[in-house]
Amino acid sequence: MKGFREDFLWGGATAANQFEGAWNVDGKGPSVSDMCTNGSHTSPKRITPVLEEDTLYPSREAIDFYHHYEEDIALFAEMGFKVFRLSIAWTRIFPTGMEKEPNEAGLAFYDKVFDACKKHGIEPLVTISHYEMPYALVEACNGWESRECIDYFMNYCEAIFERYKDKVTYWLTFNEINSGTMPMGSVLSLGTIKGFSGNVIEAPDKPQERFQGLHHQFVASAKAVKLAHDKYPQFKMGNMSIFATMYPYTCNPDDVVETQKQMQMMNWFCSDVQVRGAYPYYADRFFEEKGIQIKMEDGDLDILKKGCVDFYTFSYYMSNCVATGDAAKKTSGNLMGGVKNPYLEASDWGWQIDPKGLRYTLNEIYSRYQIPVMVVENGLGAYDKKEEDGSVNDDYRIDYLKKHIEQMREAVKDGVDLMGYTPWGCIDLVSASTGEMAKRYGFIYVDKYDDGTGTLARSRKKSFYWYKKVIETNGEEL
Ligand code: BG6
Repeated sequence: MKGFREDFLWGGATAANQFEGAWNVDGKGPSVSDMCTNGSHTSPKRITPVLEEDTLYPSREAIDFYHHYEEDIALFAEMGFKVFRLSIAWTRIFPTGMEKEPNEAGLAFYDKVFDACKKHGIEPLVTISHYEMPYALVEACNGWESRECIDYFMNYCEAIFERYKDKVTYWLTFNEINSGTMPMGSVLSLGTIKGFSGNVIEAPDKPQERFQGLHHQFVASAKAVKLAHDKYPQFKMGNMSIFATMYPYTCNPDDVVETQKQMQMMNWFCSDVQVRGAYPYYADRFFEEKGIQIKMEDGDLDILKKGCVDFYTFSYYMSNCVATGDAAKKTSGNLMGGVKNPYLEASDWGWQIDPKGLRYTLNEIYSRYQIPVMVVENGLGAYDKKEEDGSVNDDYRIDYLKKHIEQMREAVKDGVDLMGYTPWGCIDLVSASTGEMAKRYGFIYVDKYDDGTGTLARSRKKSFYWYKKVIETNGEEL
């Protein structure tokens, strides 16, 4: 029976705004995440365009990877990482997003990071835009609602492709691009929140702006892929979707049809465009029923066709059910809630743990697209307890990851072409949804707390040693 391929890319994943800190160092400009306060599972984080005294903005220092990158990458190497997923902060390279020339100090920082990866034989996997729209673009043009963002984004891509052409092979255009199909996407990804301040979950929802913004991201993504294919044939370009697997709550055909509808617009719509190069057939009816009209320019559809990605990547944390009746109990999940599945347990944040759903999802994705697939986020956000001797015995995390890797192996045996696995937050970092440090995912513990205190010291959790063994044995010993 087949196991993971010999060149399987084992590693871990992060994002600039959640771990770099140094938010205004060496010429970096503010991004949306720098304007967000901390929150928790029960009290939402806020966006405050004007800085408030005595309020904590967790992305601003985060875990200060900016000044700890050598130590952190050495720890990843100790675990045996083959790949390290990180994002470049757009605002480090173009502080407002609108400059003509890149910021040399920002470029120089990632040179050092990629050189450190190379020294340890680690392949970088770079997300070009991971939830960190330059805040100046929100103010100037309501983020991605404006077509101008395509040119600003391309300016950024040209700068980083040229600079890192010999250091980076694997690129993802937009993190969880399909977050734009949900209200939270306007804050996290699209920046269509000009003038808004307050609880992020209360940002006014304007589907017309969101889907127009998504169209601009599709064009930008396709242009970036095309630029790479034309000028840097050694590059491998991927999409990145959040996959919220959905099951019908019952076999009532109403539940089944509703599930299919939600799966289409939430999970397939964006990747259908990015992988197949065209808007899917079911989008027309959705737009018509919602009264959404997408403004396109001549040539947009052609660009989409020419900018298809080489591999498919996604995040997978949980699954939900869909019910049309109202008897079912609700649960929460990554950026969207759903209906509770009586067969599954959930994390402390209510995300339902479903390893078999990963095998199912991998098969669904591969049968639809038939291109290599990679799981670029997965993991358990949990409250970790540091013992007096400094150890963290995170058996619950090991259990979660072990069960998901087992199911990935099943999917490989099923015939899915799986390239790699980068569990989320391989080092503790700030939560995207709540702004907390308390929701930890890492193999590496960081001494940093929700009140902003902590020495930033790094230490190895029990899962660190476990994952090292997993990589050493190419997933045989779990
Ligand atoms: C994904 C994002 O949605 O999930 C990450 O790409 C995020 O940025 C991760 O951190 C986990 O979500 P959270 O809210 O627990 O940080």
